[in-house]
Amino acid sequence: MKKRIVLLPGDGIGKEVINSAKDVLNAIAEEYNHTFSFESHEIGGAAIDLYGTPLPETTVDACKQADAVLLGAVGGPKWDSNPSHLRPERGLLGIRKALDLYANLRPIKGFKNLLHASPLKEEVVSGSDLLIVRELTGGLYFGTPSERRDNGNSVVDTLVYSRQEIERIVDKGFQAAQQRRGHLTSVDKANVLESSKLWREIVEEKKAQYPDVAVEHVLVDAAAMKLITNPTQFDVIVTENLFGDILSDEASVITGSLGMLPSASLNENGVGLYEPVHGSAPDIAGKGVANPVAMILSAALMLRYSFQLNDEANVIEDAVQAVLDAGFHTGDIQVPEGRLVGTAEMTKLIADYIKSQNASKCIASCYF
Ligand code: IPM
Ligand code: MN
Repeated sequence: MKKRIVLLPGDGIGKEVINSAKDVLNAIAEEYNHTFSFESHEIGGAAIDLYGTPLPETTVDACKQADAVLLGAVGGPKWDSNPSHLRPERGLLGIRKALDLYANLRPIKGFKNLLHASPLKEEVVSGSDLLIVRELTGGLYFGTPSERRDNGNSVVDTLVYSRQEIERIVDKGFQAAQQRRGHLTSVDKANVLESSKLWREIVEEKKAQYPDVAVEHVLVDAAAMKLITNPTQFDVIVTENLFGDILSDEASVITGSLGMLPSASLNENGVGLYEPVHGSAPDIAGKGVANPVAMILSAALMLRYSFQLNDEANVIEDAVQAVLDAGFHTGDIQVPEGRLVGTAEMTKLIADYIKSQNASKCIASCYF
């Protein structure tokens, strides 16, 4: 299979972990006879510095022509005091909108043997396996106009959702539940927000089309509590943009580190953008210590969702599990014992495992 992949490293550790994804994909290409070509473009702070805009047209055009896009992370203190339109995050929101990537899938599954790295009790997180389906191109993130009035003493952020925007993401939630354990939790704030009332009505209307899915409605505050007190009760959670953003960071503690969580952002045509849930981590950027696993697992999601290469995606996930099982971990994972490694070493271990699997000779036998 021949595919064109656009890489958007972005800022901070994004620049480091994107190389890890590339190395792992090269290992896959080599072992499974695929041709992946990579083309790198600027986004976020890096693009502001070079071109004076967080999302140059050349980046948008390249993404539109690509088979899939991998993104590292954007943001950093350097650009924190920039005006809103010149913030790195604008680049990320802009590319999501430009490609109409309305469906953001964030799978959260604890890796066995790492459960004790979670600050939650092992018996609470054990067996958790959930998917957050987050609406990604509407809501408060895209309200117009977002502005300051009254000499900066009052502010306006608008929350707009159309029926069509809600319907398409709710459908994604139901379909994901059908492919999983048949349970959908719709999260809203219908006791307060008009947008949530429409959201809930639409979920109720759609129920009949998916008789094999059991649906429940949970208010977002209660959902936040249930996520960490009883995460195993969830299968698929479908929710709007801001709630999904907050709940997915919260859910990351189940896996022990935000550095483990991948995500896929999809549009109707299957062109996807794949990125870790974590940010640019300026505090550790450039030190070679970032956890590349979320980025590598995002590349696996790309193989599965955009290229239908399920076996290859599974091999990457198995490799990550094997390396973790062998006791290797980056510094973000708080485990008392184990072997602490940096970004490059972690990446090499995963890539070597992939090569050793297919060649059925264990190149990395010293490790596994
Ligand atoms: C995420 C991030 C982004 C978001 C930021 C960087 C704009 O937190 O992908 O979850 O809020 O969507
Ligand atoms: Mn977030």
